[in-house]
Amino acid sequence: MNPGPAADLGARLGGFPRFTLLGRPTPLEDAPRLSELLGVRVLIKRDDLSEVGLGGNKLRKLEFLLGDALAAGCDTLVTFGALQSNHARQSAAACARAGIACHLVLTDTVPRHDELYRTNGNLLLDELFGARIWFSDGTEDGLAATVERVESHLAAEGSRARWVPPGGSEPLGALGYVSCALELSQQCRDLSVEPDQVFVASATAGTHAGLLCGLRGAMATTSVRGVAVLEDAADTADTVVRLGSQVAELLGVEPAPAEAVHVDGGQLGAGYGIPTDASREATGMFARTEGIVLDPVYTSKTAAGLVEVCRDGPGESGAPGPDTTLVFVHTGGSPGLFAYGRDALDGAVRGS
Ligand SMILES: Cc1ncc(COP(=O)(O)O)c(C=O)c1O
Repeated sequence: MNPGPAADLGARLGGFPRFTLLGRPTPLEDAPRLSELLGVRVLIKRDDLSEVGLGGNKLRKLEFLLGDALAAGCDTLVTFGALQSNHARQSAAACARAGIACHLVLTDTVPRHDELYRTNGNLLLDELFGARIWFSDGTEDGLAATVERVESHLAAEGSRARWVPPGGSEPLGALGYVSCALELSQQCRDLSVEPDQVFVASATAGTHAGLLCGLRGAMATTSVRGVAVLEDAADTADTVVRLGSQVAELLGVEPAPAEAVHVDGGQLGAGYGIPTDASREATGMFARTEGIVLDPVYTSKTAAGLVEVCRDGPGESGAPGPDTTLVFVHTGGSPGLFAYGRDALDGAVRGS
């Protein structure tokens, strides 16, 4: 591992305004019982343990997005998500911390109509953190009409707003995961380990694109495997490539070639926000070996992808075995579990 490019990337990241939401590195933990079960060494990067608003991957993006908003004198942030968006919840909490208003445009895109999904989990927390919520149906027209209502509301209030796309996945937000990659590579150096693959959920793909950009500079022998949870593998890979080249341009470095973008499309199941048997199994496995909570939309499907690789072989990184080291990036989302209730569980220990 060559510390040169990482130091250079670190210096480049330092040129962007940043509002601190993570006071310290998130832990990189061994998962011994899970490793024993799967026959490989699994390390878990605990981005679910970042502190503000019950944590998760969006805080890293929001450090840069809020830094930009505050530098531009904004007093309001507006963003988008599904009803149970973790990004929306973390935006609401981060805005509370920054002392600015937060407006959330939440769309009804996941086919769940039960009370829990519509009131609990992230939605409950959005309200707790003081966000103003604007509900929209899942149609393009419905969304456009809601955006117009928000715009006129903000104009009438005289607000100066920073609009942030779904998932915070604009190049500036993805810088948060370039920074995570540098942190992770330092932690791997401290443990004298060079992981074979890093597993991460890939939805709006800023997390995947940022990690890939950072790891290429800092830990070039480690590949990144995104597990598609929003769109199919081809569309997800296109987004990673496009966003990755924008992130590289922002930092003034070479973009990752398309061949470096690996996406597993086999865990999507019936679609975004719909658990699968494999995601439920993985949820139980992480909980009962390590006491770690996965979420039903992102991390459980990503974990299912990791479990499958251990059963079938990790493809381009050679045969799995005790010498194989896989990093699972735990991107958070546990509040979503309370919106899905028992539908997120595999039922293995449920009493009658
Ligand atoms: C818990 C969790 N993991 C992963 C992701 C995926 O991140 P990205 O949208 O950057 O692909 C999200 C996005 O909302 C998330 O909430």
